[in-house]
Amino acid sequence: MTNHSTNNSPYDCLIIGAGAAGLLCASLLGKKGVKVLLIEHTKKIGAKILISGGGRCNFTNMDAGPSNYISSNPHYMKSAMKRYTPWDFIDLLSAHGLTYNEKKLGQLFCDQGSKAVVEALIKECEEAAVEIAVDCSIHSIEHQEGYTLVTKEGRSFQSNQLVIATGGLSIPKMGATGFAYDVARQFNIPVTKTEPALVPLTFTSDDLTFMKELTGVSIDSLVTVGTTSFRENILFTHRGISGPAILQISSFWSLGRPIHIDLHPSGSLKEALINARQTRPKQQLATFLSDFFPARFAKAFTEKYLENIPLTQISNKKLEGFLEIIHHWTLTPNGSEGYRTAEVTKGGVDPNALSSKTMAALTQPGLYFIGECVDVTGWLGGYNFQWAWASAAAAAESI
Ligand code: FDA
Repeated sequence: MTNHSTNNSPYDCLIIGAGAAGLLCASLLGKKGVKVLLIEHTKKIGAKILISGGGRCNFTNMDAGPSNYISSNPHYMKSAMKRYTPWDFIDLLSAHGLTYNEKKLGQLFCDQGSKAVVEALIKECEEAAVEIAVDCSIHSIEHQEGYTLVTKEGRSFQSNQLVIATGGLSIPKMGATGFAYDVARQFNIPVTKTEPALVPLTFTSDDLTFMKELTGVSIDSLVTVGTTSFRENILFTHRGISGPAILQISSFWSLGRPIHIDLHPSGSLKEALINARQTRPKQQLATFLSDFFPARFAKAFTEKYLENIPLTQISNKKLEGFLEIIHHWTLTPNGSEGYRTAEVTKGGVDPNALSSKTMAALTQPGLYFIGECVDVTGWLGGYNFQWAWASAAAAAESI
């Protein structure tokens, strides 16, 4: 890594953003003999890779396919993802002696951790003679015959090819900016509405008081918004609800819409409850429920929605009503935790204005957008990195 000294000789390609997409694109280009300068405005390279997957980097998903992405052009990612598959990134890691394991649902994690993934990518860049300028902020971009980038300190870099890999808006304190969207607008390329996604949902008043008391409790649930459902854990927090099922559904949720939660998706509790009412009539409702849920949740949920009374005292009508809440718990979030904690940004540079083969802007020669800044948002579980790698490889192939 170099803190770049003034060098006015033209590069074959300038890449802005040394995150997942920028690093891979730079190394693949360098290996083709392309002279690349990779520019990063923070002092850290691959910061989001470092914190990903709780430090273990869920670097891909073996089952990644177009149906795992939300985009204003649902076909856009197909070509790039066919050409750069999870196996291609596994090969890259293997070449650095790194190994992986599947946690669940096709999610692959690096055994040696996120830092090893970043080190492998930096090594790839070094071997490919990529120059990396960290702590380098771009003040303006001019386009005449090629692109001229002027830094805040007044240095300038020229190239005919410019790749924007600056990611989305999530976690601004780590260096996230809307730079890619500003560049797109500068060149009249449309940007779709951006929103925090894969983000915990928040609640007001009554619901929040209940959730706060259960902070740390997690329950296997089926969470639905409209016609989209995810079955994974939900996790109560002091701000509302998080956990994989909630993060997933947040990408499909919008303000004002209710979410529906089946708290016992593996089957109806009706038979067990009727049976227990006959065989253990004196058993308290919360005690019965604690066979199926964490005891803290069983007690709080019973007290909120019915009463902690012996099973024999529960009428059929009350029992039906209570089961209805367990299987169709309906809540209306008042918002989300926003970009402060969102894993990704939904929306971005409009893929309809880009080539799905090369990631180049259709109306602006030599300008490319890759990774999260494009309106292609993956589910939770390694899909977002797979898009970053695939879009980076597609651009590198065509430059
Ligand atoms: P990325 O954000 O990686 O890189 C953009 C780079 O551009 C950054 O280095 C940034 O500093 C730089 N930049 C921004 N503005 C700039 C400017 N104006 N000038 C110069 N540089 C600029 N995904 C997944 O598949 N598996 C996982 O396990 C996780 N885990 C995870 C955890 C957490 C906490 C978060 C926040 C996110 C994840 N993700 C994830 C999502 C994943 O990190 C994300 O989708 C990719 O990093 C996107 O790669 P990009 O290269 O597009 O952007």
